[in-house]
Amino acid sequence: MRRALVPAAVVVAVLAAGCGTTDSHGGAPNAGGPLRGLAQRAGIAIGTAVDAGALSRDDGYRAELPREFSSVTPENAMKWAALEPERGKPDWAGADALVDFAGAHRMRVRGHTLVWYSQNPDWLTGGNFSRAELVGLLRAHIAAVVGRYRGRVGTWDVVNEPIADSGSGLRDSIWSQVIGPDYIATALRAARAADPQAKLFINETAADGIGPKSDALYALVKGLLAGHVPLDGVGFQMHAELAHGLVPGVRRNFRRFAALGLEVNVTEADVAVKLPATAADRGRQGEIYREMLDDCLAVRACRSFTVWGFTDRYSWIPTGEPGFGAATLLDDNLDPKPAYDAVARALRDDAR
Ligand code: XIL
Repeated sequence: MRRALVPAAVVVAVLAAGCGTTDSHGGAPNAGGPLRGLAQRAGIAIGTAVDAGALSRDDGYRAELPREFSSVTPENAMKWAALEPERGKPDWAGADALVDFAGAHRMRVRGHTLVWYSQNPDWLTGGNFSRAELVGLLRAHIAAVVGRYRGRVGTWDVVNEPIADSGSGLRDSIWSQVIGPDYIATALRAARAADPQAKLFINETAADGIGPKSDALYALVKGLLAGHVPLDGVGFQMHAELAHGLVPGVRRNFRRFAALGLEVNVTEADVAVKLPATAADRGRQGEIYREMLDDCLAVRACRSFTVWGFTDRYSWIPTGEPGFGAATLLDDNLDPKPAYDAVARALRDDAR
């Protein structure tokens, strides 16, 4: 327990500096959290993906969440497979619980996600629908979901991961194959119609720096804007791995999207570590989180920074990337890691 080792002199110094006065982690001072207040002062939202199961069962998790974060993204609960596992029989329970929780704690909600190649129900992917049918289903889905949460979900990741990993064209999916490239504009227009106030985003993975994939994303977005398709921002996921660190050119990339008049958000930050994680790994991980957040804070259009889970207890990494883990800010006991301190420090030092 790192926090038990903090010498009294440090405690006094932290208290005197006016930070760390809140017992954000069960009674111990840390680098000056909670993050939520620091982020507010820095003028950005600080968010996390939320695991619906943990939210319903884990009291420690439920307590930590609104203390540290001002924004939530349902990790899976708003994906099509979760919302409509059987055709015409929607299951809103998980999504409703999160939106209600967020409302009760004055947190923003980032809706995730309306159109994706993955986590779709079998009836949809296996249904052999015609183009016209699929357009109809997509429009109806977006009208139902965005309409249900109108005024409560402020931002939507309308389209998730549209670009092929190679950067050459759109990613293969039932949407791109059956509807064609138009599915993106169709989805964005449907979302705008269902909630004219909500901010609409395209969210992309592995397009954080400058490269063929982010170039393709940039071209896509520029084309949409030229065609007056409603689009307010671009989300950069920023899943990273300790051994590789951050790709070069993140700030330059953010700035070129911002120059199109768009908001830029970091939407799914985490730093996967090859297990077992050493103390040195945890230190280096903190530096990478800090770089990520500094890249956001350096660009005025970057107004929200979301981590993909805030505790190793529920992180997707050990399942998604076997052999890796320890990717988040808090450990399995919800105690802060160096990454938490690094994020707090970045927010506190922010010179916006
Ligand atoms: C992941 C979830 O974290 C996992 O629980 C789930 O099994 C698969 O999806 N990019 C995204 C997210 O946009 O929706 C993904 O979430 C992680 C990668």
